[in-house]
Order: sequence, then C-alpha cells, then structure tokens
Amino acid sequence: MSIVDEALTQAIRTIQSTVPRMGRDRPSIGRADGSYERCHASHWVDGFWSGQLWLAYAATNKTFFLDAARQQRPYFIDRLNRTATLDHDMGFLYSLSVVADYIMTGDHIARDLGLQAATILAQRFNPAGKFIRAWNDWDGESEDFRQRKHGKIIIDCMENLALLFWAARETDDPQLSHIATAHATTTAHYIVRADGSTYHTYEFDPTTGTPQGGFTFQGYADKSCWSRGQSWAIHGFAQTYQYTHEPLFLDVAQRTADYAILHLPEDGVAYWDYDLPADEPRYRDSSAAAIMAAGLLLLADNLEERLKADYYRAVALHILHNLTQQYTTAHLPYTEGLLLHGAAYVRKGQTDSMLTWGDYFYLEALMRARGHTRFFW
Ligand code: GLY
Repeated sequence: MSIVDEALTQAIRTIQSTVPRMGRDRPSIGRADGSYERCHASHWVDGFWSGQLWLAYAATNKTFFLDAARQQRPYFIDRLNRTATLDHDMGFLYSLSVVADYIMTGDHIARDLGLQAATILAQRFNPAGKFIRAWNDWDGESEDFRQRKHGKIIIDCMENLALLFWAARETDDPQLSHIATAHATTTAHYIVRADGSTYHTYEFDPTTGTPQGGFTFQGYADKSCWSRGQSWAIHGFAQTYQYTHEPLFLDVAQRTADYAILHLPEDGVAYWDYDLPADEPRYRDSSAAAIMAAGLLLLADNLEERLKADYYRAVALHILHNLTQQYTTAHLPYTEGLLLHGAAYVRKGQTDSMLTWGDYFYLEALMRARGHTRFFW
C-alpha cells in the first residue's frame, strides 16, 4: 500500500469513528485532548465536516457516510433563513453541503437549496467596483472599520466562486458566472502582486469602485503574505480556470503557486506567513499546506504543459508526504480530527491545533493524489 493509500484509509477510519460523537454537531478548532470544539457561532467553517462526510461517501460508497452527511442538512436549511449570519462564505458552506449532496445523489431539494445560496451570494456584488463584498457588520467594531468593510474583498472569496459557476451551469444563467468572473478578475488585478504574492484583503470605495489599497487581517503585516491566503489563491484561481478556461486565471494560479513554492520551508509545510521577521514565532499552518497540496494537484490537472504539471504534482506529493508523516493524528489513541499544527489566527493566539478546514483539504488532497476528480467546488 502506498503512503497516500494508507493515509486515506486512516483518515476515513478516523472520520467514521468521529461520526457518532459528532452527531448533528460540527467541529471547528481542536482541543489539546484530541477532541474538537463544536461550532456555536454561525460562521464560515460549518461546511467542512459535511464536506468530509461527502468525500468519505465518494471514496467508499458506504451509506453510513451519506446518512451522516444528510443529518447536517437541517442546519444548512435553517442557516439560509438566518440571513444576518450569511456573508460571502456561501461557497465554503453550501458547495460542501447541499451542492455535494446534489452532485452525489441528484437530490432536487439539495439542488434548490444550492441555487438559493448562489442567489444570496450574487446579491453581494458591487457593480461599480466589480467585486463581491466580503464581510457583514460585526459587534464591537469601530465605525471606520465598519465603513471600510463595505468596499472590502478578501482572497478567501476565490473559493466561494464555484458556487456561482455551478449555479450558472445548472440554470443556464450567464449572469451568475459573469459576477464570479468579474470578481476573480478584480482579485487577480488588485490582490495578487507583481511577484505572485497576495494581500489578504483589498479595499475599494464602495460607491465609485476606486481602488484604495491592500491590507492584512490574519497575516503578519499589510505588505507580507499570509500563507493560507496564498493557498486560497492557488486553489481558487485553478478552480476558476477550470470553469472559465480564461488564460488569466491559469497564469495567476501558476504565479501564486510559484511564489509559495519558492518560500516554503524544507518539509513543504508553510509557516503562517511567508514574510516573517527573524524574531517572530514561526508557527506552522498545516491547513495552508493541505489547501496548497490540493490546489497544486488541481492546477496540474488543468495544465497542458506536461513538465510544469509534473512539477506541481511532485511538490504537492512532497507536501502531502510530510503531512502524512509528521502532522497527522494517526499516532494518537483518541482524536476527532486528522491534521495537527494548524494556525487559525495567530494574532488571537489560535495556533498549533487541529482545524476542520485543514482536515477537509487534507482529505481532498489525498483523494486528488489518488486520481479522484469528482469534487463539489
Ligand atoms: N477564511 C478564513 C480563514 O482562512 O481563516
């Protein structure tokens, strides 16, 4: 058995043993004892457990996983009605839940829910600036920050665009794919820098669409490069190219990949930011590594240039190999997750833990490495 096969078998075994403990709950951030905190506030991470269950079903065909994934559906229906909790992260939530259900089972209720989610996402489009607004208002923020958020995009949103492309295909509504393509083009021009690195966020005047400048939120500094954001760019632009076949997006996926590869530590598992001064703690972010590995495999599958595709595949396998050997929970007697040493938000002290999105992308990357091509984005 290859290392990837073994790791995939182990991952699915862990997911299976976690199902009865998780019930209708969803994991968020790992605790020191190997368990997961459950999602309480409604935020962007609620879809990743569902995504793992659908992938486990795709890998095994066991109805056990289908049943467990379907137990999550009431949450996603309820959340659609709580519109104040919905921001741009509709793809993270709904591609990995109801769209996955429709792709795997053809269920028409799931399809309708996915289309509703896409419509809600499309309503965030700002035609003056040609972007999808990222965040809503938050409690306790300054008035200045609240105003600026009206014109703010973040690199993470590249992963939400597949929901729009999927819905456009399902309904033959080109407007939805125009919105997704416009947002990706704006992101390519403003968030991606000339050297292939990325800002985490970029701000525009929300009325005129005039560009204002790039900032960070979870990275080290405005001008640095937050590694998870870079991974969102690699995976998200490769995904957008797969839908659109626009050369710009393939070029940006490669430039962002090349920047990240050049700045990786030896084992291929990124530190939380690619531009850390010497005295700054070097926390790993295994989730950035897992997203990057999945993104490089997706990119390789979309490249005609054989040598370049082989190169990206080799880097992805190097990252995955080291994740399987050094970063998994496989050696622990008790765990509810797959991957250790993720950095959710370093400035808030959220470092060195399991992260539900790291687990999801680790599973996606293992399945891509095994040649699986049917995903839910
Ligand atoms: N999308 C939020 C994060 O990557 O932390």
